[in-house]
Amino acid sequence: MSTPLRFDGKVVLVTGAGGGLGREYALAFGERGAAVVVNDLGGDMKGDGKSSSAADKVVEEIKAKGGKAVANYDSVENGDKLVQTALDAFGRIDIVINNAGILRDRSFARTSDLDWDLIHRVHLRGSFLVTRAAWNHMRNQKFGRIIMTSSAAGIYGNFGQANYSAAKLGLVGLSNTLAVEGRKYNIHSNTIAPTAGSRLTQTVMPPDLLESLKAEYVAPLVLWLCHDQCQETGSLFEVGAGWIGKLRWERSQGSIARQKNKAMTPEAVREKWDQICDFTNATKPAAIGESISTLVDVLSQVETNEGVTANPTSAMASAT
Ligand code: NAI
Repeated sequence: MSTPLRFDGKVVLVTGAGGGLGREYALAFGERGAAVVVNDLGGDMKGDGKSSSAADKVVEEIKAKGGKAVANYDSVENGDKLVQTALDAFGRIDIVINNAGILRDRSFARTSDLDWDLIHRVHLRGSFLVTRAAWNHMRNQKFGRIIMTSSAAGIYGNFGQANYSAAKLGLVGLSNTLAVEGRKYNIHSNTIAPTAGSRLTQTVMPPDLLESLKAEYVAPLVLWLCHDQCQETGSLFEVGAGWIGKLRWERSQGSIARQKNKAMTPEAVREKWDQICDFTNATKPAAIGESISTLVDVLSQVETNEGVTANPTSAMASAT
């Protein structure tokens, strides 16, 4: 049998760990030797109210199984305080799971300023503030693991979730940049788009599905991504029901819609439209450098008037 993945000596902060997915992560880390900060504001699913009981219960559960845990009841909007709890209780911070979340679903036309702002404050700004508070500690110790929690609603769009989708896809961008900046410090950042039965999904899922899509089918991915053996960073995964899939960008070969010394026109774009949108031999760009180098190649192709329509970096990129 392979060696079990342990987290002894590691300190994990799980936000929104009083219920649902976060609770499952906290219990799983606790069982495998990590010291856990169980953060939860204890409000309702729309972000109203607060209570210490949700976090306290999970701390008790972890301790009852012989684990180490401490509660924190601050909102993720006070990121410093969450990380300070980890430092005060356990002296370090190694892993941050940005999981806390609320919903304020409305059709786009009815979305109020508050519906927009509150969702962004909790999901996007909250994840930023908590992670920034932990960042320098991770840098100094040359180890850090960060998880951002996105959503299929962010990746694909979903009726009534404009505020939530925008914040959730924002987290992918945040994680991608943290992966770039963190690489040389052994700080890895990855994003998950989970699906599980919880109080957030109970209004949109039928009861039997709610019951079958267990949070315990999501936690193992989170633990693996946070282990020091795992080298994955800057990636996005959909996860649920025991299935895990990785997503990446795909870019068509594209087409150059202008000629040297001529004005570029919308008619030329119309003419090239099928080629622009044709995913035959699509490439899978994985870094911003590929984007820039394509444009530099296009400039030289137009200049030399070769009239080439293919994306010049395609052969290289599609080899991966
Ligand atoms: P949940 O409602 O069971 O858990 C979220 C927890 O976050 C709650 O315990 C809540 O009290 C806490 N929380 C809310 N605002 C907070 C704040 N400002 N500070 C600290 N804690 C706060 O929901 P669930 O389903 O476990 O969601 C966890 C994460 O997964 C969320 O980010 C959610 O958007 C995301 N997600 C869940 C999906 C699912 O199928 N359950 C689908 C896609 C994304």
